[in-house]
Amino acid sequence: MRTIIEPFRIKMTEALPITTRENREERLKAAHYNVFLLDAEDITIDLLTDSGTGAMSDRQWAALMMGDESYAGSRSWRRFEKTIRNITGFKHIFPTHQGRAAERILAATRLKRGDIVPNNSHFDTTRANIEYVGATALDLPSPKAGDIHAETRFKGDIDLTALERVIARERKTIPFCMITATNNTGGGQPVSLGNIRAAKALLAKQGIPLVLDACRFAENAYFIKLWEEGYADHSLIDIAREMFSLCDGATMSAKKDGLANIGGFFACNDDRWAEDFRNLLILTEGFPTYGGLAGRDLEAIAVGLEEALEEEYQRYRHATVEYLASRLITRGVPIVRPAGGHAVFIDAAGFCPHLSAKDFPGVGLTTALYLEGGVRGVELGSVMFGRCAEDGTETPAPRELVRLAFPRRVYTQSHFDYVIEAIENVFRERAAIPPFRIVRQAPFLRHFTAHFAPG
Ligand code: F0G
Repeated sequence: MRTIIEPFRIKMTEALPITTRENREERLKAAHYNVFLLDAEDITIDLLTDSGTGAMSDRQWAALMMGDESYAGSRSWRRFEKTIRNITGFKHIFPTHQGRAAERILAATRLKRGDIVPNNSHFDTTRANIEYVGATALDLPSPKAGDIHAETRFKGDIDLTALERVIARERKTIPFCMITATNNTGGGQPVSLGNIRAAKALLAKQGIPLVLDACRFAENAYFIKLWEEGYADHSLIDIAREMFSLCDGATMSAKKDGLANIGGFFACNDDRWAEDFRNLLILTEGFPTYGGLAGRDLEAIAVGLEEALEEEYQRYRHATVEYLASRLITRGVPIVRPAGGHAVFIDAAGFCPHLSAKDFPGVGLTTALYLEGGVRGVELGSVMFGRCAEDGTETPAPRELVRLAFPRRVYTQSHFDYVIEAIENVFRERAAIPPFRIVRQAPFLRHFTAHFAPG
């Protein structure tokens, strides 16, 4: 059969809010044109994030009922630990309440002022946690990522030449290097095993550990199976094991490829790293056998991690993203290519050629999509990554993107047909998208709370 179907049927439904344009105009104005400030009940299709927004399976819901809520050494913890060890092979495993808690403790225990942490591209919480302790988060994306419209494979790779140069210059100030799979800020693009292996070889010569930001490890593994020579016949779990075997540790948000609504973990091999991590974990997250999660969450994550590695699931997941991407390409809508593992990224600058970076085209596009169909995406452009100096001068971001992230197992093909129609309508009338200006902003992470005004 050619048709790739959702490899599940639906046993419980949740009503979607259906709103009128008039109503949306009112809501958007009240939210100061910032879609983060809208109520979810005013949104029809919510593509703000793929984090914690997925649907759990019947097996996960059943596992929840098996949660052992013992404070220490629960059965659920053992199941969680066993599953993660089976996939990652790491010696030490620590649950955390979500990915950024793992990042925070890792940064607090391993970094000091003046240190440098290279990565293909840091996610914003990873960057913020590194900067919070006075260290530098250094992005080294592959030059392949430079052309966002080229159909090049593995644009998520880390730039090995740049990494070698940084290691030669800064060896003493690099406590560890990271690789983010898939590279979220770089368009959800995957990292090849060849690239991870080569980065590990460079780092190993200098004794620098490699930490995988593994949030979307299963989606990345599927890209390796599809694209990397020699892996077509490998199972996803074998590919994932090979990815983890090249690393010394991993941070994970189980809200992505854990198919859970909350949770995360940190894993590593080094006893000293583990000892320091454990001590701070107890102080701020909880005892090391629950780490800020309920026993039932540990159960749901253990099942979710296994389901994320099912080939039928990944085939469907990638087909859904590809479905939206290919239809936008046919309609001439500029997007980052190839389609990412968890999202389609629209090139808002190309979408709105009449607007410049100082007009925040990503804000114009997110608001237009909301007004058209109650669809919520997120700006990844000069609001999120640009800088505002004290005198109000704006330094724009290198790109103006709008991310449409796919919650896992939530929306069906007709939901995406609806999204395509909304984008198509907005694209036809794109010359009418107004410029926006910021009327109020916070000194950091301004995108969450900024107020905008058109004109
Ligand atoms: N690393 C990456 C690559 C991420 O995409 C995220 C979260 C995190 C770490 C942090 O994990 O949210 O569990 O603390 N990304 C979400 C997103 C929020 O919308 O892309 P967390």
